[in-house]
Amino acid sequence: MTQENTTTFSSPKDVFKSRLTVSDETCPIHNIELVSAFGREPICIECKRTALEERENTLVEEIMKEQNRINTYDWLNKHSIYLDQTLQHVSFDNYKTNDSETKANKEKALKIAREYYQGATYNTIFTGKPGTGKSHLSMSMLKIVNENSKPYKKCLFVSIDEVMRKIKDGFNKRDSMYTEEYITNLLTSADLLVIDDLGAETGAISSDKMATDFTTKVLYSIMNGRMNKPTIITTNLTSREMAKMYDQKLISRFLRGAEGHAIKFDKTNDKRLSVEF
Ligand SMILES: Nc1ncnc2c1ncn2[C@@H]1O[C@H](COP(=O)(O)OP(=O)(O)O)[C@@H](O)[C@H]1O
Ligand SMILES: [Mg+2]
Ligand SMILES: [Zn+2]
Repeated sequence: MTQENTTTFSSPKDVFKSRLTVSDETCPIHNIELVSAFGREPICIECKRTALEERENTLVEEIMKEQNRINTYDWLNKHSIYLDQTLQHVSFDNYKTNDSETKANKEKALKIAREYYQGATYNTIFTGKPGTGKSHLSMSMLKIVNENSKPYKKCLFVSIDEVMRKIKDGFNKRDSMYTEEYITNLLTSADLLVIDDLGAETGAISSDKMATDFTTKVLYSIMNGRMNKPTIITTNLTSREMAKMYDQKLISRFLRGAEGHAIKFDKTNDKRLSVEF
C-alpha cells in the first residue's frame, strides 16, 4: 500500500498537547512533575487547580457577604419610611447637651443602644413635647446599632403616620407596594424598629380621638410579631392620652420591658423654635 499524501488538521487540544512539555522539576507540595505550555514558566497543575478553586471560593464568599449586607445593614437606608429628610444627618455627635435633661437622656439612649447591639430585646419609649429631640435621638440609636452589630441587624425607622397614610393611599391603587401585608412584614422583620411619633397617625392629639379599628389592627399585627424583638417608640402623647387612644392590651405591647427604659423630655423646649415662650 502506498502512503497517500493527505493534509491533516490538528484540533486545538492536539496543538496544546504538542506544545506541552514536561519539566524535570517536581512540585515540592504535590510531588508531581511541573509542566510548561507554549514555552511558559513551568507550573504544577495541582497547585494551579487549588489556586483557581480558592479564587472562586473567595468570589462566592464576597458575593454572599454583599448579599447579606444588602439584606441587613442596608435596610435602614433602603426601607425606612419618613418624610423629615434632616433625619439623614442626625447622630449622637451632633446632638447638643446644653442642660442636665438632654445630657442624661443622651447617656441613657447611648447605654440602651449598646445593650441593643449586644442583643437586648426590651422596648424603649421616648416621651415629651414636639421638637424636643425624640426623633433625633432614636435615629441616632438606630445608626449606632446598625454600625456596631455583629452580625448585622436589620434596623428600620418608620414615621407611623406616614406608614398608615401609605397603606390607606394604596387602597385606591391596584399595584401599590405599600399593602398592609407588605408593611406588617417589613415592620415585624426588622431586628430593631423605631416607631416614630406614635399617636400622630390618629390625627389631632389634643382631641380625644381614638385610633380607628384599622390602625389598631395594623399596630396589633406589628407588635404581636415583635414580642421577641426590641422596638423603640417615640410619642408626644402623655400616658393619659395614650390610654384614651389605644386599648390596654396594645399599650402593654408597646411598653413591653420599657420600665427603666423610658426617656422623658419634661424640661426641654422645642428645639425648632428660636424664640422660647
Ligand atoms: N439636643 C439637640 N441637639 C441638636 N439638635 C437637636 C436637639 N434636639 C432636637 N434637635 C433638632 O431639632 C429638630 C427637632 O427635633 P426632633 O428630634 O424632630 O424632635 P421630636 O421628635 O421630639 O419632635 C430636629 O432638627 C433635631 O435634629
Ligand atoms: Mg419626632
Ligand atoms: Zn503543586
